[in-house]
Amino acid sequence: MSSATEKLYLLISESVRDGSFRKAVFSKPVEKCSDGPSRIDVRPVSVKGRVQLQVTRRIGAQECHENIDAKEGVALMHRFSGLMFRDVHFGTSAAEWTARHSRKGKCTLTKRETTGTPSESDTSHNRNRQYLIPDGEACPFLVATGIMSADGRVRAKHYAKFRQINRYVEFIRDVADHLPRDGAIDIVDFGCGKSYLTFATHHFFRHVAGRDVRITGLDRRRDVVDTCNTVVRDLGLDDIQFCVGDIADFKPVGQVHLAISLHACDTATDDALSAAIAWGTDVILAVPCCQHELSSHLPKDGLPLFSDHGILHEKFSSLATDAIRANLLECAGYETRVMEFIDMEHTAKNLLIRAIRRISGDTATTVGSREQMQAFCRQLSIPPLRLQQKLEEYGLL
Ligand SMILES: C[S@@+](CC[C@H](N)C(=O)[O-])C[C@H]1O[C@@H](n2cnc3c(N)ncnc32)[C@H](O)[C@@H]1O
Repeated sequence: MSSATEKLYLLISESVRDGSFRKAVFSKPVEKCSDGPSRIDVRPVSVKGRVQLQVTRRIGAQECHENIDAKEGVALMHRFSGLMFRDVHFGTSAAEWTARHSRKGKCTLTKRETTGTPSESDTSHNRNRQYLIPDGEACPFLVATGIMSADGRVRAKHYAKFRQINRYVEFIRDVADHLPRDGAIDIVDFGCGKSYLTFATHHFFRHVAGRDVRITGLDRRRDVVDTCNTVVRDLGLDDIQFCVGDIADFKPVGQVHLAISLHACDTATDDALSAAIAWGTDVILAVPCCQHELSSHLPKDGLPLFSDHGILHEKFSSLATDAIRANLLECAGYETRVMEFIDMEHTAKNLLIRAIRRISGDTATTVGSREQMQAFCRQLSIPPLRLQQKLEEYGLL
């Protein structure tokens, strides 16, 4: 073994031991064969509070992932370096290393510091590193959807979408502690559409959090469902499926832990919320879209100042609908927050209703909330809206 290869091995094993290891990428296989990996990525992941190494092998267009303990991971990386792959890029919290192995086995090791006064490009690199899905590391669904090039660089024209996806993934990360800690997490994405965010949810749980998932994306449009299932097949994913159907008719196979409904039209959001509450879903994330129900019930002269201006009337109706939804979720036993969501380009609706099931209900608060909501509806002279009707029908209020 050359001294550079030996040094590389020591650097990798020490960084894994002291926790400074960030990633290693092995490319340029020594022997090219179609059924062998063309690239292997290794990164630390936390699994049930323990640090493990996630090894991702890319074979053709598919990727397979394996979480292994640190000692085994270090031994594998030792085998990958030089013996199986000529190029190794390896990063710690302090430096980036590149090792290149010639055909004769000579290893050249170079180092680039990432601490000290950062240059402009280093600053942007560090900023990128804070993304849960980083720029510069090929993420299969972003490559498949054209947001990233095959080598993991985000295409300039898709940068805004890339940032939005990352922001969304942060919302998912923030609720992860309220989901079961063991076993697979069951997720339904209602009105998934083209499913960038469904794939982002899958990526977060599988590759960032190192958790097993079973995801169902539901949409009434066959064309989008077919397209999403093609991506699933191309990426070789067996824990995500897309089905055609209406939210109001969907019946899950088992317990659902996380229900997502992003920009589903009008009262489809209420169908998603009522279904998720009825199943006792742990966490619900909903971004409502184009509410018309309350607006259609408001008496013409019911809102004097607002009704003189169509846009104000519409915005008031949307906000009042979301306030009622949030209140009903509270009444049904969910800790609820309404937060600013990301501005996706196809819609200006950017309020996220985040509801986390309470472990034990606070009856006093629940009764108080319901009375407040009923008084609000009386003020507006509107009948119970769809979500309330459904929850009453299911005996959940
Ligand atoms: C604006 S897209 C949003 C897609 C995705 N959730 C996102 O936020 O990027 C809304 C999707 O919801 C679907 N949808 C609306 N109402 C639905 C219903 N009642 N049942 C199933 N899908 C529905 C539409 O077909 C459409 O694909």
